[in-house]
Amino acid sequence: PETITVQELANRMSERAVDVVRLLMKQGVMKKINELIDADTAQLVAEELGHTVRRVAESDVEEGLFDAPDASEVLTTRPPVVTIMGHVDHGKTSLLDAIRHTTVVKGEAGGITQHIGAYQVTTPLGGKVTFIDTPGHAAFTAMRQRGARSTDIVVLVVAADDGVMPQTAEAINHARAAGVPIIVAINKIDKPDAKPERVRSELLQYEIQVESLGGETLEVEVSAKERLNLDKLLELIQLQAELLDLKANPDRPAEGVVIEAKLDRGRGPVATVLVQRGTLRQGDVIVAGAEWGRVRALVDDKGKAVSEAPPSMPVEILGFNGAPEAGDRLAVVENEARAREVAEYRQRQKREQAAARATVRVSGLEEMMS
Ligand code: GTP
Ligand code: MG
Repeated sequence: PETITVQELANRMSERAVDVVRLLMKQGVMKKINELIDADTAQLVAEELGHTVRRVAESDVEEGLFDAPDASEVLTTRPPVVTIMGHVDHGKTSLLDAIRHTTVVKGEAGGITQHIGAYQVTTPLGGKVTFIDTPGHAAFTAMRQRGARSTDIVVLVVAADDGVMPQTAEAINHARAAGVPIIVAINKIDKPDAKPERVRSELLQYEIQVESLGGETLEVEVSAKERLNLDKLLELIQLQAELLDLKANPDRPAEGVVIEAKLDRGRGPVATVLVQRGTLRQGDVIVAGAEWGRVRALVDDKGKAVSEAPPSMPVEILGFNGAPEAGDRLAVVENEARAREVAEYRQRQKREQAAARATVRVSGLEEMMS
């Protein structure tokens, strides 16, 4: 049922909450300002105070934000989105660095990845691949889960000297839950104590049977340090991508997902977004979660300004009025009024949910104290 807190109702009418409480009391409804009242009661109160009421259902505000699927005629091939997952320190970031010829690892605090990096590379065969790096540290389950959900393929990195560990297993579960195919990359095979055979047999316990053991899961032995078999890994990714036949319509307003977002001191709110269909352009009016804005600038993974971002491209967006949350869906809308309507509606919902939670907590406390 539709509900609203007394406080929120008062806010929307620009009335004092105590006046609303008093009015409710007169009608025999005893409510504190943080408590919820139903929509009919709220309407009565509002009309009593001389306001006109327009009831907006969720379906009205969110209507048409994410359009129906595109017709197959307008679809064109898009690059695969590949998420690198695995246990802490098994070499995920190093592997990506080796593929990209960069050194992100050296800039990380304690060599531990604490955020999601998103990059696009061009393979030796000429295709593009989008990579998403995730942290392996136990604390970052939510990031791994989101990573698995917004990806086409998971590359499971397992260190040959360490074997299958807790977050290896966790990553397998995320990939399974998301229905995403796994490519196994057995890393650190340059090490003297590397035991790739052991990794293969350990994976059997998680029902992953690699090709060399007669199964169907693609696998490759690599060394990020010695740059061994990196091209082979990219080939397997392209092979898997071809099997998946990944397509999107580039000629439509963009939709995507927020990979991460932060408030940058100099640049304001910055959101890294993966475009999933359509093409995002400078000047587009966007809404993601409870935030909206107009795209002021788009920045690619090399820090270069770009004018547009097609499907599967990760891009930083400058121009949000506030930082959205990782995992929020992004949509381009027709104008600022529409964006504001959606964002404000969601902000209200968030506030009401938070207030409802607070009420539950407070009443819990009262019970404890009585
Ligand atoms: P988190 O993001 O914190 O989960 O770690 P990660 O999986 O990204 O591991 P990272 O790339 O930070 O590497 C961890 C350590 O393993 C570093 O000291 C790397 O130099 C080392 N390492 C990574 N790949 C290899 C490899 O192929 N061979 C050897 N010998 N060492 C490697
Ligand atoms: Mg890392």
